[in-house]
Amino acid sequence: MTIWVGSPERICTGDEAVQAILRQNDACYYNPAVGVVQVDMARWRQAQEYEKRGWLQCWNGDTNDRCDEHARNFMNYVALKKDLGRVMEVGCGPFTQLQRIIDGRTATHITLIDPLLKHYLQLRYCPYKTGKFKNLPTLLRTKMAEQITDIELYDTVICINVLEHVLNARKVLEVLWMALKRGGTLVLGERTYDEFDPMKLYDVGHPIHIRRTVLDNFRRRFSTTLYSNNDYTISQK
Ligand SMILES: C[S@@+](CC[C@H](N)C(=O)[O-])C[C@H]1O[C@@H](n2cnc3c(N)ncnc32)[C@H](O)[C@@H]1O
Repeated sequence: MTIWVGSPERICTGDEAVQAILRQNDACYYNPAVGVVQVDMARWRQAQEYEKRGWLQCWNGDTNDRCDEHARNFMNYVALKKDLGRVMEVGCGPFTQLQRIIDGRTATHITLIDPLLKHYLQLRYCPYKTGKFKNLPTLLRTKMAEQITDIELYDTVICINVLEHVLNARKVLEVLWMALKRGGTLVLGERTYDEFDPMKLYDVGHPIHIRRTVLDNFRRRFSTTLYSNNDYTISQK
C-alpha cells in the first residue's frame, strides 16, 4: 500500500497516493544501508511546520503523546533508579514523557529541549508552561538537539519518539552519548524501518526512517543494557 501524508489533514492512499508520491517523496535522502538518517534544512522545516500546526491547531486538547503506550513498552520504567539525578529530555514535545517517568521518582534538575518548546508553552496541558516542571529546578531550551554541546552533564537522558523528526539522526545520537555522564542512563524509544521504501511512504512530519542497524551500532557503545524490548531500551554508559 502507498501512503502519502502532506499535512495533519491531507492523507491519501491508493492511486491518489501513488500520483502524489511521484511528485513529492524523500528518495533523494535514502541510503539502502541505513535508511534515511539525514535530510536538509528545508525538508526538516516542513516537518516542523506539520508538527507545530498539529499540536497548536489540530491536537491542542491532548494531555500527553502516547505516554501509556511508551510506559507499557518500557515495562513502566522499572529498570530506572528512584533518583534520576540531573535529567535531560531531548525533543520533549508539548507534554514530555518525563511526566510519566518521574512518577514515584525524584530528580535534582530538569532540562527540557525542543525546537518548538516556546510554542508549546501556550498549550493548556503543557506540564512546564509555568517555566518549571513539577516544581523542580528546570531549564527550558528552545533548541535543536543537533546544537547541544553539553558534555557529560546528565545522569539520565530521555529520547522517545524524536529521531523520526530530526534533521540528522546520527548527530543526535552522538549528542545523547556526549551529554551523558559515565555511568549515566539513556532511555531510548525510537522506531526503526528496515522495510522503508521512499516510493511507498511519504510522511511530511516524519522525514527520518532509520534502519535498525543504526541503533544497534549505537547501543553497542554502552557498557550495560538495563532493559530491552525491541525499539525500547534503557542503557548505561
Ligand atoms: C512526536 S513529538 C514527541 C515528543 C516527546 N518526545 C514525546 O514523546 O512526548 C517529536 C518532537 O521532536 C521535536 N524535534 C524535531 N526535530 C528536533 C530536533 N532536531 N531536535 C530535538 N527535537 C526535535 C519536535 O519539535 C517534536 O516536539
